[in-house]
Order: sequence, then structure tokens, then C-alpha cells
Amino acid sequence: MKLIMERGAPGRHLDLLPPCDVPQVTLSRTRQEPLDLPQVSESELVRHYTELAKQVYGVNDGIYPLGSCTMKYNPKINDEMAALPGFSQVHPLQPEGTVQGCLEVYATAEQLLREVTGMDAVTFQPAAGAHGEFTGLLLIKAYHRSRGDAARVKILVPDSAHGTNPASAVMAGFQVINIPSSPDGCVDVEALKAAVGPDTAGLMLTNPNTLGIFEKHILEITRIVHEAGGLCYYDGANLNAVMGEVRPGDMGFDVIHLNLHKTFSTPHGGGGPGAGAVGCKELLRPYLPGPMVERGEGDLRWAVPEHSIGRVKDFYGNFAVVVRALCYLLTLGREGIPEAARNAVLNANYMMHRLAEKYPVAYAGPCMHEFVLSLQQLKEETGVSAMDIAKGLLDRGIHPPTMYFPLIVHEALMVEPTETEDKETMDRACDIFLELWELAHSDPEALHAAPSTTPVGRLDEVDAARNPVLRYQKP
Ligand SMILES: Cc1ncc(COP(=O)(O)O)c(C=O)c1O
Repeated sequence: MKLIMERGAPGRHLDLLPPCDVPQVTLSRTRQEPLDLPQVSESELVRHYTELAKQVYGVNDGIYPLGSCTMKYNPKINDEMAALPGFSQVHPLQPEGTVQGCLEVYATAEQLLREVTGMDAVTFQPAAGAHGEFTGLLLIKAYHRSRGDAARVKILVPDSAHGTNPASAVMAGFQVINIPSSPDGCVDVEALKAAVGPDTAGLMLTNPNTLGIFEKHILEITRIVHEAGGLCYYDGANLNAVMGEVRPGDMGFDVIHLNLHKTFSTPHGGGGPGAGAVGCKELLRPYLPGPMVERGEGDLRWAVPEHSIGRVKDFYGNFAVVVRALCYLLTLGREGIPEAARNAVLNANYMMHRLAEKYPVAYAGPCMHEFVLSLQQLKEETGVSAMDIAKGLLDRGIHPPTMYFPLIVHEALMVEPTETEDKETMDRACDIFLELWELAHSDPEALHAAPSTTPVGRLDEVDAARNPVLRYQKP
């Protein structure tokens, strides 16, 4: 496909400006040579962007079972609400009295998420899940420091945690202690007992974990950590599997982050803007980033918590994302929230059972909202890898699942259908998966050569990541 710079011809343009109705001003410094911009007609421009749009695959095109990412359908009413002028045309420096409605959005969203998580306070400042982890860990650090306990420098992270957990712990200045999983995919409780001690600052638990399993010994886990003087961090990015059914606050967790773009149907948006809301129990409230919305006498106002760790983001976070999440919460309501979680789990189990006809499941179910297949045996028998199957799916119009993650499963494909897919769509996807299994045995070369119907063929992904070509060089 041609780039916009490679289209058009000199003199073609589409500027249709109205006559100037303000006094003309001559600038003192003007460009000596005209800017070298593409010169295209309106139809060329429209066709260019239409062609680009056709090359993109999104959740509005079809199933997007990208495990650990929760690519579910985002209701359009969320965007309508976020676009209301009262929300979209405000400025963060406006006086509080003129943006009471926006503060109410924060206050109501906080109240609802406190209810869903069982926490006592929620901030919306962090811009993403990992940013929320970093913020939560700074709260843990501030708590221990305020008690004069500087010896607590270690964060325990099970090997089934999301990859951002150990990375965030290191960013926050902690040492990471890896806790192995038992053969059932859950935390090895004996290994946890052996690891805790006076240097334990806390534990970070992804639940359901990256194998799609709900930790069996969760109450025992939080008790062990608390008895050792540590705090418990809940990676709540997978809350879509349990929301409205169980609450991390009731399981003994002190702090949590939520990925609004996963669980609460806000856009993933190519890395942002997003929100990794952080909730905490009363003991951590004084350290929250400020400002937070506070109810005064008859109005709402900004207030900075007493021992705040400081800002983690400019202004108040990505406000329009919070409007969308609130809209989702209010649309689904008390009945809809747990129903969405139950459907996420039902759909994952349905697909897992259909695929288990051929594909080995890494850890026996039932699963929560996602499950992991291991294609190790398929690769040994046929030479067809998880990557080959993923490319074969692309050729058949399906976005592949997450590949080679979690790291503890060889040749992993991690599937998350989400609650918004219907049975027919999942059946079609399963039929294609099973067809590819047959193809791997009958014609493995066809899969090594895939994809052949996509705009580009198989890329050298390592080279693409290490040497990205991001700038147009004029010939
Ligand atoms: C379980 C889990 N934790 C943390 C994260 C990190 O979130 P983000 O990508 O918003 O930084 C993710 C991302 O999908 C996740 O699935």
C-alpha cells in the first residue's frame, strides 16, 4: 500500500476555506520554502484512510481472544457519554465550583469501585495497569517507612503472575522473590511460608492468575503474608472473571489495581490514554496520590491525602476514561456486573472444552475467564508451532490468542473469548482452531508459510521490534 506522501501530484489539493473575515496579519518571520506536504485530492485522501482502516483488525470486526488482554466489546453508549459537552469541554484548571458534575463522576465511580472491590478508597490517577501497580507498591513502601520499618525490601511474586508485577516491584525499588507454582498451577503455599520474613514488604498476587486459575488457598496466602508483617497486593486486572461475585478486600488484600480498559470496557487505545485505578484499605489511604475528590458541605472539592506519595500523573488522570467506566458500571448495575463475570467464565470454559478435543490444555479446568493451551506436543510431532497456528488463524480472519505467555507453559496459546462473544462466533472460531490442528498433521508446510492473505506475510518479529522503521525517507 502506498503512503500518503507517495500519492497525489503537484497542485492537487482540497482546501475549501471560507473567505477571511478577520484582519490579515503579516508574520514577521515566515518560512522561506513551502512545507513539503502531500498534495492530494479529497477522494485520494478518503480512499487512503479507508484502505488503512480496512487493514486493521479490531473487536468491531470479530472475535479477538487475546488472553490476558480482555478485548471485549465496548458499548458505544460509553463514548456518547464521554463526548457530552459538559465532560469533553472542561479544562483541568477550571475552579472546582464550575466542574461539580465532573467531580461527581469521580466520586460516584470511586464509590461503586469501592463496593465492587471491598476497598475503602480508590484513586483514578494512574494511567494504566502497570502504572497502578507501581503506585500501589509505593503505597506499601510509604506505609512501612512511616512505621520506621525500612528492612522490608522484598516483594514476593508467584511465577504465575502477570509479567508487569515483578517489573513494577523493581521500578518501585524492591527486590523480587519468585514463588513457584504447584503442579495444579496455584501458589506453592509451602514455598510461600519459607519465603516470608521480616524483610517481606508484601506479596503481589494476580488472581485469577495468568493460567486462568482462581488461587485455591487465597485466604491462607493473605494470612501468611500478614502474619509476617507484609501487605497484600491484588493484581485486579482480571477482575472481569470475578466482579460482583467475590471481593479482593474480603480476601484480605490491602491494595489493588484495576484495568478499566479490560474489566470496565474502556478503550485499550494502543497504549493509552487509559486508567489503572488503585484501591486500598483504610491503612493506606493517607498515602494515596493527590488530589482526591472529597465531599464537603454541599459540594465536592479536591483534597490531598495527609501523607500523599505525591502525584503520579498530571492533573487527575484520564477523565474521559473514568466517564466510560462509570457508564459501564451504571449500565450493567448490581445484577449485570456479576452476570458479565459469569458469562466470561462460561464462555472460556465452553471454548476450552471444545478445543480440548484436540489441543492439550496446560492446566486441567475448570478455568476462569481464560485458559492456556500447550502446543509443545504438536510441535514435536509435526513441527508446527504455536506461532504457525497463530498465523494460520490470521489467514482465516481470526485474531490469534496471546502467544508464548505465560512463560511457564511451553508453546503457549492463551485464549480469552470474553463475555461479549456469542456461541455462534465461538463455535466458528473453535472449528477453525480444530481445522488447523488437522492441517498441522496433513500439510505442516502450509502452516509454516502462513499468513498469505494478510497485507504483509510473515514478519521477522525480532527485527521489527529491534530495528523499527518508523520514519518515511523521501527518495
Ligand atoms: C493481569 C494483568 N496485570 C497487569 C497488566 C498490565 O496492565 P497495562 O497493560 O494496562 O499496564 C495486565 C495487562 O493486560 C494484566 O493482564
